[in-house]
Amino acid sequence: MEKSKVFLETKEIVKKFGEVTALDHVSFQVRRGEIQGLIGENGSGKSTVSSIIFGMLAPTSGSMALEGKTYRPKSPLEARANHISMIVQEKDTIDMLSVAENIFLGEEASFGKGGFVNTAKMNEAARMALNIILAVKNRQNI
Ligand SMILES: Nc1ncnc2c1ncn2[C@@H]1O[C@H](COP(=O)(O)OP(=O)(O)OP(=O)(O)O)[C@@H](O)[C@H]1O
Ligand SMILES: [Mg+2]
Repeated sequence: MEKSKVFLETKEIVKKFGEVTALDHVSFQVRRGEIQGLIGENGSGKSTVSSIIFGMLAPTSGSMALEGKTYRPKSPLEARANHISMIVQEKDTIDMLSVAENIFLGEEASFGKGGFVNTAKMNEAARMALNIILAVKNRQNI
């Protein structure tokens, strides 16, 4: 199968927290329709690189590209406007919210009108998103 276009690319990202170098020239590419796993021991920098992609942290140096264009989000809002979302580790999800509400946090307005959220519509969208992930996962045998 022909490889799809690169969607997101990190180039030589370095992140220092004072004396600690959390990321030391991290470069990788994610293609359209691809699911990639980022595996590493505790403290290896998975959350740090994810937070940079999601605009929560700024890199010390290095750059990113989204569909070939420079991507430098200054906030999660800017990341979301570029179709980048982050589903955080369990301790950071909101207990009192449903799975669907956690997935669509900040996007409630697209599921209703006048301050009311159409829960059924939101649940259906979450189900579809999770089914797509499952289908891709099964196809890739991961
Ligand atoms: N806000 C911060 N201030 C100082 N150091 C930090 C900060 N955030 C992360 N670090 C350090 O950066 C390194 C990478 O941490 P990070 O949380 O990205 O790892 P991780 O791979 O997500 O770990 P885990 O598997 O525990 O979630 C660690 O050495 C961590 O202590
Ligand atoms: Mg982490």
